[in-house]
Amino acid sequence: MISRREWLRVTAGAGAAVALSRCTSGVGQGQGMGAALSQGLLTRPIPSTGERLPIIGLGGANTFSEAAGEEEFDTVGEVLQALLDGGATVFDTAAGYGASEEVAGRVAQELGIADRIFWATKVNVAGGFRGGPREADPEAVRAQIERSFERLRVPLIDLIQVHNMGDPPTQLRVLRQYKAEGRIRYMGITTTSERQYEALAEVMRTEPLDFIGIDYAVDNRVAEEVVFPLARERGIATLIYLPFGRNRMWQRIGDRPVPDWAGDFGAHTWAQFMLKFVLANPAVTVATPGTRNPAHMTDNIGGGIGRLPNADELGRMIDLVESLPGA
Ligand SMILES: NC(=O)c1ccc[n+]([C@@H]2O[C@H](COP(=O)([O-])OP(=O)(O)OC[C@H]3O[C@@H](n4cnc5c(N)ncnc54)[C@H](OP(=O)(O)O)[C@@H]3O)[C@@H](O)[C@H]2O)c1
Repeated sequence: MISRREWLRVTAGAGAAVALSRCTSGVGQGQGMGAALSQGLLTRPIPSTGERLPIIGLGGANTFSEAAGEEEFDTVGEVLQALLDGGATVFDTAAGYGASEEVAGRVAQELGIADRIFWATKVNVAGGFRGGPREADPEAVRAQIERSFERLRVPLIDLIQVHNMGDPPTQLRVLRQYKAEGRIRYMGITTTSERQYEALAEVMRTEPLDFIGIDYAVDNRVAEEVVFPLARERGIATLIYLPFGRNRMWQRIGDRPVPDWAGDFGAHTWAQFMLKFVLANPAVTVATPGTRNPAHMTDNIGGGIGRLPNADELGRMIDLVESLPGA
């Protein structure tokens, strides 16, 4: 691992060349990167504006939130650089993810890449499905948002979502004010708890939203039932969380090889297999898998390149996953 100083020098002086050599030298799994350079990452529009986003992003929970030491900063920089080198832009974080906003904001400034990132963060002063909802104080909501601006070190945040359905009326009202003031570009709301899906659907029906964030994976398809059709009907973009079920799918897969037939639609690793499943759904705008490994980031980019599985292939993927242990 090179030091942060070395990394800064290298990326400042010869970023493109380094990116290219990292891509073509087969760093880690890196199978998507050569293709990324020649074919490009797929994009999808945000329905409320038509702005197109690369369909693979990066999640900053768990993996970024504990970064503290100098080596950790190096790694975060490499992951963010791999995100951009692969043609992706969306970084999803939250005020509630420990050091995630602070570390990503600081590293992005130091690398001079902050203005190339689509910054998506979240606010919640009302508690979530774990803490139980309570009423949000609008001043506390504003204070938390201001802290996110300071931590991310950007004058404009692309997207702020209400985290885990915490007091939607109050927190969305504050987000509408920020949007009207031109300090954020998009607003939304998130949950990864099935027991909040009904409440989420109600907000989607009644509030003007640009985005929702929701969990969806090849072995977790409940979002297909109500939330996705509603997102399409109401013109709401979706950020997909937990596309690997965090550790769940990795445990279920174990050391099994990726099936050969997945190569027909360009999935050469399990990450690409799982991401291509998620992205094949037309309600999906961007998947944001979390990683603190730059080679994994590059691998994940490969999930957003080339053909996506057709209906027959999706059925075969589900059958395979349902045959794995731990269902
Ligand atoms: N309510 C909410 O709003 C909410 C809730 C949950 C999550 N989220 C968002 O969704 C994002 C994604 O969720 P998540 O990070 O918890 O889970 P995830 O994306 O389903 O899985 C992350 C895990 O997969 C591993 N991984 C990633 N890429 C890999 C690859 N190519 N090969 C092998 N392993 C790989 C990571 O380890 P390595 O670090 O070793 O790669 C990590 O252990 C979060 O970061 C967060 O931004 C939002």
